[in-house]
Amino acid sequence: MSPEGEPNRSAERERWCAEQLDEATRAWLEEDARYFLHQSLSTPCLNVLTRCEGSFIEDMRGRRFLDFHGNNVHHVGFGNPRVIDAIVNQMRELSFCTRRYTNLPAIRLAKKLAELAPGRLNKVLLAPGGASAVGMALKLARAATGRFKTISLWDSFHGASLDAISIGGEDIFRRGMEPLLPGSLHVPPPDPAQCPWRCGHECSARCAEYVDYVMRREGDVGAVIVETVRSTSLIPPPQYLQILREACDRHGALLIFDEIPHALGRTGRMFTCENFDVVPDMLLIGKALGGGIFPLAALIAREDLDIAGDIAIGHYTHEKNPVACAAALAAIEFIEENRLAENAREMGEYSLNRLREMQSRLPSIRSVRGLGLLIGVELSDSALAERTMYRSLELGLSFKVTMGTVLTLTPPLTVTRDEMDGALDILDRALSAA
Ligand SMILES: Cc1ncc(COP(=O)(O)O)c(C=O)c1O
Repeated sequence: MSPEGEPNRSAERERWCAEQLDEATRAWLEEDARYFLHQSLSTPCLNVLTRCEGSFIEDMRGRRFLDFHGNNVHHVGFGNPRVIDAIVNQMRELSFCTRRYTNLPAIRLAKKLAELAPGRLNKVLLAPGGASAVGMALKLARAATGRFKTISLWDSFHGASLDAISIGGEDIFRRGMEPLLPGSLHVPPPDPAQCPWRCGHECSARCAEYVDYVMRREGDVGAVIVETVRSTSLIPPPQYLQILREACDRHGALLIFDEIPHALGRTGRMFTCENFDVVPDMLLIGKALGGGIFPLAALIAREDLDIAGDIAIGHYTHEKNPVACAAALAAIEFIEENRLAENAREMGEYSLNRLREMQSRLPSIRSVRGLGLLIGVELSDSALAERTMYRSLELGLSFKVTMGTVLTLTPPLTVTRDEMDGALDILDRALSAA
C-alpha cells in the first residue's frame, strides 16, 4: 500500500531537479542535505522557498506556484495580514507565558473553541503540534475509562510520534519502530478499494459493524480514534461514523475524531464531523489553527471528561503560548468574517464539476471525489500521477500525490475563482500531455 505522503526519491524527481533548478538553489539543497538528518518522505528536499503569500509560494528563482498542498495549514492564505498584525502586536505585549500563569489570548481562544465546537465539547487543552494533541487524547481516554486498548484504522495517519504511529496504520512509519503501544488494535478503513467484505461502492458499512464486533469480543476497549475524513479525500459512507458512535456508547468506549488537517472550514463546515451529524467525545484540531504561521493544536473534550486534575495530560512548554493563541484567534475570526467555510463549499462544488467534465474526456482519470476544498483526483497509475505532478509544477501548480495515484488538491480557503480556474487549467494541460 502506498503511503499518504509522497516518496522523495525517484527518477522523475531527479529529472525535474536537473531541468528546473539553478546552481544557487542546488547549492542550498546540498547544504540542507549536509546538515539535516535524512528521513523518508521529506529530506532531501525538492526546492528552496523564499516567499509565500495568499495562495502562492515562490522559489529562489522567483518562480511562483499556486500551493494546493500547503500541508493544510494555509486556510486563511499564507502571510495573512490580520494574523501577522495579531502576532506582531502580541509579541510586543506578552511574548511568552511562563507556566503557572495564564494569559488573555489563551483564555479567549479556549472560550472561542468551546463556543464553536458542537454538542458538549467545551473543555480545551492546547498543544504545540498535532501528534502531541493525539497523545493527550490517548492519555485522557485511559484516565477516563481505566482502559488502555484502542481501535484505529489501517492506513490512517495521526502524527509521527511513537504513540501516534502506534495507532496510525501506515507501514512506512511503523516498520522497525516496534514495540509500539500495547493494545493498539487496527481494523479495515472504510475504503471501497480494499474492503475485505468486497462491498465495492455499494457500501453496507460492514467495516463499521466490525468495530462493534471487536469491541464486544475484547470487552475493554477504551477509545476508537479515526480521522473524520482521510486526507486522501476518502469520505466515509454517511452511516459509518454514526455506527461507530453507537458502538462506542454501547461498549463504554470514547470516540475521538482527528480533524487536525481539515477542521476550521476546509470541508465546508467549521468542524468536519458537522457534515455527518455525529459528535465525538474528543475532537482534535491543529495545523490551520496557528493561522498558517505558528504550530498549534487543540484537544476539545466533553465537559464531563474534565477528570484528570491530578494527572499531567499535556504539560507542554508552549501550551499556552500567547503569540500562537493570538494568531489562532485572528485566524478563526478571519474564517468566520470572510465566510471561508461557505467559500470552501462553493469552490469545492465548482471544482468537482470541472473535474468531472475533465474525467469525461480523459480516460486516465479513474475517479473524482471531495468534500469542500479537500479534493482527490484518482488516476489509473502511479507513474502517471508522478509525471502529472512534476509537469504541473513546471506550469506553476503544486499539489500532493497521495497513496501513489491520488492527486490531492487542498488550496487555501481564500482561493479565488480565477486561481481555481488557473489551477484546473494547469491540471488539464498536464493530464492531457501525460
Ligand atoms: C490526520 C492527522 N493527524 C495528526 C497529524 C499530526 O500533526 P503534526 O504534524 O502537527 O504533529 C497530521 C499531520 O499531517 C494529520 O494529517
